[in-house]
Amino acid sequence: MTLPFLTTAVTKTYGISIPVIAGGLMWLSDADYVSAAARAGIMSFITAASFPEPDALRAEIRKCRSLCDGAAFGVNVSMLPKLVPGEKTADVFRLIADEGVQFVETSGRNPEEYMPILKDAGIMVLHKVPSVRYAVKAQSVGVDMVAIVGAECGGHPGMDMIGTMVNAATAAERLTIPYLIGGGIGHGSQIIAALSMGASGVVMGTRFLVAKELNAHADYKARMMEATERDTQLIMHSVRNTVRALANETTATVAKMEQDNPGVTISDLLPHISGQHGRAAYATGDTSRGVLSAGHALAFVDKVEPMAQIVDRLTQEANAALARLSALQSIAPYQESA
Ligand SMILES: Cc1cc2nc3c(=O)[nH]c(=O)nc-3n(C[C@H](O)[C@H](O)[C@H](O)COP(=O)(O)O)c2cc1C
Repeated sequence: MTLPFLTTAVTKTYGISIPVIAGGLMWLSDADYVSAAARAGIMSFITAASFPEPDALRAEIRKCRSLCDGAAFGVNVSMLPKLVPGEKTADVFRLIADEGVQFVETSGRNPEEYMPILKDAGIMVLHKVPSVRYAVKAQSVGVDMVAIVGAECGGHPGMDMIGTMVNAATAAERLTIPYLIGGGIGHGSQIIAALSMGASGVVMGTRFLVAKELNAHADYKARMMEATERDTQLIMHSVRNTVRALANETTATVAKMEQDNPGVTISDLLPHISGQHGRAAYATGDTSRGVLSAGHALAFVDKVEPMAQIVDRLTQEANAALARLSALQSIAPYQESA
């Protein structure tokens, strides 16, 4: 289903039917998932960090292209502070450019030093930030669009912890480039709300964790469906690397370590937060351990469905929200009583 009346800078840039992007998901957004999103009419990104070997990333990009039926897709490059030594970001961008990928989603830190590589290759840069102030900075270094994710988001909400509603409205005042809003978005009515505040689209992650094409164990998806917006926990704020994740044994342990020892370091936490535990949970379905990023949009995660069906539901919900708004417009204008 297409919504031609929802034409925005985001739909035009990516050639998609509704202004929704599925943000990169560490260990999860592979060629199967990203191409399913593309075929469903939205934009998505392979997470480069999930394929640390250059040949593996190259192969995943090629596989994705072959599955996309000509639809656009991109690569997510998270430039978060490295937990292990070795900086390969520039090489990753060169590989992406070599493969002719046109779109990237960057996150984690200011992409300024990589902008020459990206712009020389004609790559369109969407930079994702956790706060409007970083969006203003990203705009000043020449990114094409920004995505601002609020405190409700799964993954990294940053340090400011400003909510999505405030980000959506303040961004309109402070930015001149197109922006997307994310964090807690999982219902079509929220797409309309974001557009009405000035956004050109939304970014979602948590809502898609039950997509049929997502390569994760059925028990993991079952836990996502069972969990509600009350089942996440914020950890690692004390080490300036805040994460919102499914509340489980790992988040409880990490939160206690942070509480008991204000001087705790990221290295102290590493045995618990290592990405390998999360990866294992996706493979085995044992969600009791690992930092399993998930946000308040768990509220909307109710069944395992193909990506196309989730997008269809979002579209119908967006339509219903628009109908509610136009019904309001037909009511006589408000007049103060004498
Ligand atoms: C399981 C999971 C893994 C994620 N991994 C990444 C990542 O590797 N890189 C990144 O930039 N964002 C990552 N994110 C953030 C999403 O791309 C997206 O910005 C976020 O989920 C939007 O908020 P929402 O979860 O409230 O929809 C992840 C989110 C989740 C839920």
